[in-house]
Amino acid sequence: MERRTIGAAALAVGAVGLGCMPMSWAYSTSRQRGPESLRAVHRALDAGCTLLDTADMYGPFTNELLLGRVLKERRSDAFVSTKAGLLVGEQHIVANGRPGYVRRACDASLRRLQTDVIDLYQLHRADPEVPVEETWGAMAELVRAGKVRALGLCAVGARGRRRAGARLYDGTIRQLERVQQVFPVSAVQAELSVWSPEALETLLPWCEARGVGFLAAMPLGNGFLTGTLTPGEGFEPDDLRARHPRFTAEMMAANQPIVAGLRRIAARHGEDVTPAQVALAWALAQGAHVVPVPGAKQERWVGENAAAARLRLTARDLAEVASLPAAQGSWH
Ligand SMILES: NC(=O)c1ccc[n+]([C@@H]2O[C@H](COP(=O)([O-])OP(=O)(O)OC[C@H]3O[C@@H](n4cnc5c(N)ncnc54)[C@H](OP(=O)(O)O)[C@@H]3O)[C@@H](O)[C@H]2O)c1
Repeated sequence: MERRTIGAAALAVGAVGLGCMPMSWAYSTSRQRGPESLRAVHRALDAGCTLLDTADMYGPFTNELLLGRVLKERRSDAFVSTKAGLLVGEQHIVANGRPGYVRRACDASLRRLQTDVIDLYQLHRADPEVPVEETWGAMAELVRAGKVRALGLCAVGARGRRRAGARLYDGTIRQLERVQQVFPVSAVQAELSVWSPEALETLLPWCEARGVGFLAAMPLGNGFLTGTLTPGEGFEPDDLRARHPRFTAEMMAANQPIVAGLRRIAARHGEDVTPAQVALAWALAQGAHVVPVPGAKQERWVGENAAAARLRLTARDLAEVASLPAAQGSWH
């Protein structure tokens, strides 16, 4: 697989990564199966998808434990990208950016992941009660201590609060400017997909201008862009899509022209090419610093997504994606 280099620390990873979240969190939890997930991770590494993206809050904790079982045997094949800063309670999720907490969280992640170093340690969310420089300073100490190789920041997405008139990523860019004063940012993680392209406006150019890598989260539109979900089929109560405004039966039906467009482009590239692969190739085409991290727990999806690294979209394809209707349904 093509390799891409991200960030100040010049970290080389496979162009397509693997988002491990669906194995333990957020989607159709009744279908989460340890053995299948383990096979999916091995399949990703075999295919050259070296970047494995997880977080201590996925599960919570079980996603890192799962990855640890693979890393114990294959650490040198993988690039470990995890996150800290969010605590999961019974009914809510809260940010914790206190330096002492971040230090403990890192040690706990290292233990669960069965490794002595994390390649990319990301701040999941800044804590409004703690100046972000303090949290970032503690993370920088982890690099100096050799526990972490590089630092990343996750953007506050469409569900976050923002000032009146502010663009989606203005707040994230302010945070990035502040933490850059303390220690270099190697990667930013934010939603980027055909139906959520807002990062192209300011965040992606900010990263490109500074040699910062960009991990494209939710590049398959939480599964919608793959064309495998049926409007009205419904979701399990703990599936995040059960409450997502784009996943009501009405909005899923209204957004079908987007999937149809991806299908048309896929058909031009061959019988076996899928809308999911076009969605990933589109993300890859947004810059050499972009690494999509499609989430999957099924081995077959991992193979399909890895193959997207070989798909090159033409100028006509990209223009066609740009002319697709904007997605309907938003958090605001
Ligand atoms: N920093 C943040 O705040 C943040 C937020 C969200 C996500 N993320 C990261 O980004 C990663 C990706 O986002 P995501 O998992 O939420 O969304 P996604 O990648 O857009 O979509 C994942 C969904 O698509 C399905 N899928 C994957 N490949 C497929 C294929 N080829 N054909 C059909 N269906 C396919 C998966 O099904 P199965 O589950 O059945 O395999 C899963 O339900 C996450 O895993 C996580 O690492 C980060």
